Amino acid sequence: MLKMIAALLLLPALLPAQGVKTLSAPETKGQYAARTFTAFMQGGVFTFTAANTHTRLYQGYVKNVNLLGERLKELSAAGKADSPEYAELNRRFGWEFNGMRLHEVYFAQFGAAPLAAKSPLREALARQYGSYEAWEKDFLALPAARGIGWAALVYDRQAGRFHNVWLEQHDGGFPAGAEPLLVLDLFEHAFLQDFQLDKPRYVKAVWAALNWAVVEKRFAGR
Ligand SMILES: [Fe+2]
Repeated sequence: MLKMIAALLLLPALLPAQGVKTLSAPETKGQYAARTFTAFMQGGVFTFTAANTHTRLYQGYVKNVNLLGERLKELSAAGKADSPEYAELNRRFGWEFNGMRLHEVYFAQFGAAPLAAKSPLREALARQYGSYEAWEKDFLALPAARGIGWAALVYDRQAGRFHNVWLEQHDGGFPAGAEPLLVLDLFEHAFLQDFQLDKPRYVKAVWAALNWAVVEKRFAGR
């Protein structure tokens, strides 16, 4: 039993993404399907090798979300929902799920389209932070944090407020119910291959390649 739990906790390493079928539908027969992200792959920020490696890591998260979901279902059906294995896999689920979803948010926001001067998002950020530039300065301070995780602009739609937050790994510190509008992958795998240790240069390159129309749509709830 303990061996099985240990093996499942190492899923990303144990379950390489080779052979994961890439589908355009977000979900097929109750299983999540890996999506394709052309602008990320071909946007010129990353070499093909680096972008492909990153995509395969993402596909591994999709695969593991499906695997965990299936295993939890099996254990529950077998009356083992009170087992240590069930508890550990359940504990792991949010990490894998957010790993999948945050990569989708990140990959989909490439495309180099500027934020319009009169955009509702720009205006809302300016209202809360004093100016768009003040928000940007605050957000771009996040990547300086050491460690692996994400810088995220999230929107608390219930209160109509933005938050710039650091997400520890994929799931630590995620404000409940908040919607990720814009995220920066700050795991080393996101930049090491093309930018080595020059994280500021990586952030600058991603920032210049953002598709703000996508971010604006998220803010509009579409
Ligand atoms: Fe990543």
